[in-house]
Amino acid sequence: MATIGVIAGDGVGPEVVREGLAILGDVAGLDGLRPELVEFDLGGERYLATGEVLPDSAMEDLQRCDAIYLGAVGHPGVAPGVLEKGILLRLRFAFHQYINLRPVRLFPGVETPIKGKGPGDIDMVVVRENNEDLYVGAGGFTYKGTPEEVAIQTSINTRAGVERCLRYAFDLATTRGRARPFPGLSAGERDQGLVGQVTMVAKTNVLTYAHDLWMRAFTEVSLDYPAIKADYNHVDACCMRMVTAPERYDVIATTNMFGDIITDLGAVLQGGMGLAASGNLNPTRTAPSMFEPVHGSAPDIAGRGIANPIAAILSLGMLLDHVGAPRGAEAVREAVATVLAAGAPRTPDLGGDSTTAEVGRAVRRALEGNSR
Ligand code: NAI
Ligand code: MG
Repeated sequence: MATIGVIAGDGVGPEVVREGLAILGDVAGLDGLRPELVEFDLGGERYLATGEVLPDSAMEDLQRCDAIYLGAVGHPGVAPGVLEKGILLRLRFAFHQYINLRPVRLFPGVETPIKGKGPGDIDMVVVRENNEDLYVGAGGFTYKGTPEEVAIQTSINTRAGVERCLRYAFDLATTRGRARPFPGLSAGERDQGLVGQVTMVAKTNVLTYAHDLWMRAFTEVSLDYPAIKADYNHVDACCMRMVTAPERYDVIATTNMFGDIITDLGAVLQGGMGLAASGNLNPTRTAPSMFEPVHGSAPDIAGRGIANPIAAILSLGMLLDHVGAPRGAEAVREAVATVLAAGAPRTPDLGGDSTTAEVGRAVRRALEGNSR
């Protein structure tokens, strides 16, 4: 049995999570998984009604889950940061979810805004460090509210934290390369036995302390992976190259702050926020990992039943992989690919006029069709 904690959250969160859970019911049997769902009422509405963000009792119950499935948090009536820091960041830190894994893959049938690029060009994974950097909340004000005000926000980078992130990226590139060598390698590189590539994305030319540590760790860790090409880009160059030559990326390893930013760009490459999935992983499994669409609560479209559920459905696929249900995970990805290749139904973000529920139903039908 697998206990799945469900935090549907705010805005479109519950709308997309509903579709993901319906699909979970359909595919669980493929791997003999018996999911037990435990729902957590967390988010803006609860905060406004009770003042509670994430009670310790909920933390204890979440700790006992095998995985967490999250929609989104963020409410127009709540000050920015209260829910995002109080729920998302607290869970990521308390459960040592030190990897934020964000696949950027363009499915056939989906248009990318990048001229002349297709599914063969856009297939990378961003490994974002998820427990350190500017997100630790180290800092403070002096003379707050006066003309002399000083605000400091410190980027924390530990050797151990950086190294475990880089090792995860190299291991992932190895797994991907064994399944299919990275097509961006030259013939000469393949002759040398290379199968994959890790690009570290940082800013070593300016952040000469923090990213010096990153670079030293990267150079040392790369020695343990002779089949993986160690590549480096400054983050500004990376933004440019993700647009001009996305086919040059296989696995990107980066800091928490830069990863946050470049993965929104990645989401655009793959067809928009409605398609971008992610996992917050604790690879040591001392606490649950958490899977969520990259997008937020989308208050601008919430309540209208038109949010694209595919990002949430693909996040469920990542959850299935994590809880030892690889057949279900693959079936979910194939069903999504079938629906996207068909061109319809589609929600408005992909140029269609279908509803969240219609797309969810189409994925479930594709699951049935593909399994025949
Ligand atoms: P957002 O991701 O909610 O929305 C950005 C744009 O993408 C909007 O135009 C929205 O309509 C569109 N969009 C998002 N998801 C979509 C979907 N499934 N289908 C179709 N279109 C979709 O980001 P925004 O507006 O910056 O933030 C809204 C709230 O969400 C804020 O409170 C923010 O803090 C929170 N947030 C929470 C996250 C989380 O829970 N992991 C992540 C990002 C933001
Ligand atoms: Mg973001």
